[in-house]
Amino acid sequence: MSNATAETAPLMFQAPSDALLRVEDVALSFGQVRALKTVTMHARRGEVTAIVGDNGAGKSTLVRCISGVHRPDSGVIEFDGAPVNFRSPEDAREEGIETVHQNLALVEDLTVWQNLFLNRELMRGFGPVKFLDRRAMKREAATMVSSLAVNVPPVASRVRRLSGGQRQAVSICRAAGFTSKLIIMDEPTAALGVQETARVEELIQRLRDEGHAIILISHNFDQVLRLSDAVWVMRAGRCVAGRRTAEIDGDEIVGLVTGARPGDLPAEKLQGDLT
Ligand SMILES: Nc1ncnc2c1ncn2[C@@H]1O[C@H](COP(=O)(O)OP(=O)(O)O)[C@@H](O)[C@H]1O
Ligand SMILES: [Mg+2]
Repeated sequence: MSNATAETAPLMFQAPSDALLRVEDVALSFGQVRALKTVTMHARRGEVTAIVGDNGAGKSTLVRCISGVHRPDSGVIEFDGAPVNFRSPEDAREEGIETVHQNLALVEDLTVWQNLFLNRELMRGFGPVKFLDRRAMKREAATMVSSLAVNVPPVASRVRRLSGGQRQAVSICRAAGFTSKLIIMDEPTAALGVQETARVEELIQRLRDEGHAIILISHNFDQVLRLSDAVWVMRAGRCVAGRRTAEIDGDEIVGLVTGARPGDLPAEKLQGDLT
């Protein structure tokens, strides 16, 4: 509501030239439900970009547009300097966008290394005769897992035997390997205990320090303040505010999420809310 905020904050809606991801005026409806009305935001390399908002605000729908699950009805998504129009999550993955799913999407009956290489198996052989290179996959999996902050059992153990935190670590490891540039995490610690959460947070910080861009959806505002470099607040299908995390506090986040604070969008972008 303060004028200072209204004058300075809209600058966040102008993506810097070095932004890895730029989303501009993206809209998506499911039938009558306008899940995304018009969303503008961006994310940078080497930063954790948080997205917060109430249930139903459109957070998951937005990241599903970025990761190729949904195709926006309108708007522009630019990634690494070029407009993209992903037709599937595989398309997005090829460009370096990986997602860690909310529901810990690992296959219980496969081992850690098999999960890490699921759908991107290493092959060996010549010409048309190809074999799975199990030895190489186990070796690489061991290297990937050994770099984790979380204690993960041998790569030959079945995922069924892992704790929630270990599973999440394997999911993140899977997303972080394989030349990803942007890693999207939708509530990565929602199902975890305090200690496991701390470990996963360490892992997120390490990936950030290695130069990955991370998009973190979280309901835990303390976690957002602790981990993120920038925060976008979604409300009713819009990003209503974007801030550097250093310049926002918990009260302001809560106000923006609930609507007690109006946010920074110019009036013309808010039209249509009464329809
Ligand atoms: N596949 C879908 N089909 C129909 N409606 C959907 C679908 N996905 C999300 N929605 C609706 O879009 C809105 C935004 O949902 P969502 O993006 O999941 O919000 P959030 O992740 O912020 O809780 C909600 O009203 C939700 O019911
Ligand atoms: Mg969601």
